[in-house]
Amino acid sequence: MPAKKSAPFDLSVWVNAQAKAVDRALDMFLPKPSAKPATIHKAMRYSLFAGGKRMRPALVLAAAEACGGKADEAMPLACAVECIHTYSLIHDDLPAMDNDDFRRGKPTNHKVFGEGIAVLAGDALLTQAFEIAAQCRTWPRYDLRAVILDLAVASGSLQLIAGQVADLEGEGKGLSVPQLRYIHERKTSALLCCSVRLGGMSANCTPAQLKALTDFGYHVGLAFQVIDDILDVTQTSETLGKTAGKDVATQKATYPRLVGLEKSKRIARELTDKAFAALKPFKGRAVALEALAKYLLERDR
Ligand code: IPE
Ligand code: IPE
Ligand code: MG
Ligand code: MG
Ligand code: MG
Repeated sequence: MPAKKSAPFDLSVWVNAQAKAVDRALDMFLPKPSAKPATIHKAMRYSLFAGGKRMRPALVLAAAEACGGKADEAMPLACAVECIHTYSLIHDDLPAMDNDDFRRGKPTNHKVFGEGIAVLAGDALLTQAFEIAAQCRTWPRYDLRAVILDLAVASGSLQLIAGQVADLEGEGKGLSVPQLRYIHERKTSALLCCSVRLGGMSANCTPAQLKALTDFGYHVGLAFQVIDDILDVTQTSETLGKTAGKDVATQKATYPRLVGLEKSKRIARELTDKAFAALKPFKGRAVALEALAKYLLERDR
């Protein structure tokens, strides 16, 4: 008898199913919109459920799957990284930072709730992330301390925040490629890398798997921001759900600005190839991670 062939992996079906599960879990973890003070809970939920791509939770769940883990055991971590990501977007859009009016196809948080509440909604989502993460499945090899530490370091002033600081301070300056790489490693790659690491940890991955996931996440994370920079130039605001062309208008340091569009695309492809290469130890079992890396390179929003 011929060996039974499994159906080919369909990423869009997989991503849609994961995103629905993540939405359900987030709804369960977050205080109800009517919980007092209702303004803050409405503001947190407004940005969280505005229609993000849910790529960081997808990376958590895909990494867990690659390591033989269960989705429900990775789910608190998938939700935690999405809360941190959403908080970082709310603050990134504030007038004092990138001053953006649209996000995820809707007016930005501060446009709807005012700057004070937007700052607080970001603060609350950051804190909520740790409350949710503390409910994850742990193992002797990856106890709660290890998980929380990873999340805190990736979000802290040496990583995500460091990148945002350098991004702000780099506006209008002629940064070098290494300086831009420093920004991308921190403002974007750190949390994407942390996402796959946490997925692996929730599945009690081996140290070799964790190393492979770290290498994968680092390169996918860098590619992700190079592509974000490219899309800012090549796409419309309608497609992106956020204002296109903002980076040029505000003289942000970006790859297209520094090396041009074509070279930027080549760099994104090379980084994605490195991410693929990192998955070698999984011997073809990291199907969802591979498909995600390919999708992230080819995405148009
Ligand atoms: C946008 O991230 C911010 C960056 C780090 C480049 P996403 O492109 O993942 O935004 P959402 O979550 O889909 O809105
Ligand atoms: C955002 O980078 C990075 C973080 C929010 C940590 P960008 O400023 O390029 O993201 P967009 O283009 O506004 O989504
Ligand atoms: Mg920014
Ligand atoms: Mg921005
Ligand atoms: Mg951008």
